Amino acid sequence: MNLWGGRFESLPAESLFALSRSIHFDWRLARYDIASSLAHLASLVEEKVVSADTAKLLDQALREISREITAGELHPTVEDEDVHSALERLLKERVGEVGGALRAGRSRNDQIVTDLKLFLLVQMRDVALKVASLAKTVLKRSEENVDVIAPGFTHLQHAQPVSFGQELAKHAFALERDLSRIANWIDRTDLSPLGSGALAGSSLVPLPEKAAKILGFSGVVGNSIDAVSDRDFVAEALFILSLISIHLSRMGEEFTLYTSQEFGWVVLADAYSTGSSIMPQKKNPDIAELARGKAGRTIGNLTTLLTVLKGLPFAYNRDLQEDKEPIFDSLETLQILLPAMEGMISTATFSREKIESGSGRGFALATEIADFLAARNVPFSEGHDVAGRVVRYCEEKGIELSDLKEVDLQSIDTRLTSDLIPLLDVRGAVESRRSSLGTSTSKVRAANNLLLRKIADHEGMTKQGLGALSKVLGL
Ligand code: ARG
Repeated sequence: MNLWGGRFESLPAESLFALSRSIHFDWRLARYDIASSLAHLASLVEEKVVSADTAKLLDQALREISREITAGELHPTVEDEDVHSALERLLKERVGEVGGALRAGRSRNDQIVTDLKLFLLVQMRDVALKVASLAKTVLKRSEENVDVIAPGFTHLQHAQPVSFGQELAKHAFALERDLSRIANWIDRTDLSPLGSGALAGSSLVPLPEKAAKILGFSGVVGNSIDAVSDRDFVAEALFILSLISIHLSRMGEEFTLYTSQEFGWVVLADAYSTGSSIMPQKKNPDIAELARGKAGRTIGNLTTLLTVLKGLPFAYNRDLQEDKEPIFDSLETLQILLPAMEGMISTATFSREKIESGSGRGFALATEIADFLAARNVPFSEGHDVAGRVVRYCEEKGIELSDLKEVDLQSIDTRLTSDLIPLLDVRGAVESRRSSLGTSTSKVRAANNLLLRKIADHEGMTKQGLGALSKVLGL
């Protein structure tokens, strides 16, 4: 069924219909479209554009349709173009031509932005809850491993020993920033475009604030032309989702390395790893690898939308229909990936022995020597040079720093006295870094606890927002 036709002599060509059809992906907006129709109906009644009796009929039919869609009893047909026309057809099948009354004072242009905003306000909160859950799992594993000493890396080379708990927790810090980005996105997105009509607002809906309130929005956008053209909220959501998947990809890369035979730091649970069809001994970290791979996909989706928007004239242009598949895909990608990553991390076994065995190797404590001299008023650059000579001495002898005796130290530089020897111990080095952001176990614990509280706050607010929105939308 077309929503236009009066001025047309012929039906749309099949190829046009095939190209412009969006029902196969926008049908998921049906319940949001109905919620926004109900809110719009309330405005039309208030303005006496629709009588109370008609409104009652439409209201009942719309709610019935919504229930049947939820129950999986109602589906669009191949002849439906998009979610709006499919719902109008269904409504008219129940109430007759009067179903078309809802079209007064609105256009598919403001309808689609309203639907998409509401949908995303629900779905991004769902993603936030999954991110929060993963972050909490990461922090739990961090707590369990806080006193495991690991070699910390820069340039993927052993750098300085760190608490392995801190290594794990760093991912939760990145995820918390994602949560705060979502909260911030919600604040900016939470304004209703309904009432913009095609682009100029409508004389029939002088108070769009009413529908906005019914739909749970905190206000109304300030410019109808901007409102129907704006897809910043989609682009931002795509960016946030891309960044989450980039965070997951970096986590994935580490777990891929950790599970390699060369590292042997992590053994994945059978349920969260895969085998090989040809090599019976293999156990592969597919979740971690897919986490790396999926980031390519979400970044591609972001790039798609930004490219669609670049140079696009205001107000509505059909190009904007290309906003939906990328965001739906990125959402689905993360909604599947996040629980898989959480499962993999919560069931992984960490090998303290393997992790710790490398932590003192590779002259990871060379900085301690420079610090030791700096504490004795030797300029750090000079101390750095002395430490470098100590490393070269060890390399030539084929020994580690911990093998050094007083006589070795004295032969390199007389300022390297025997009280340096106990400092060349990995645990001591880790525990000496007691600043609030440092790697000592007590500081890692304290920082994790603060983070956990922030995550719990995000979680509480997200659940509350989701509950309130689901209630007003009747989801
Ligand atoms: N399916 C369209 C979209 O997703 C709905 C809006 C259509 N508006 C129009 N004037 N043709 O953008």
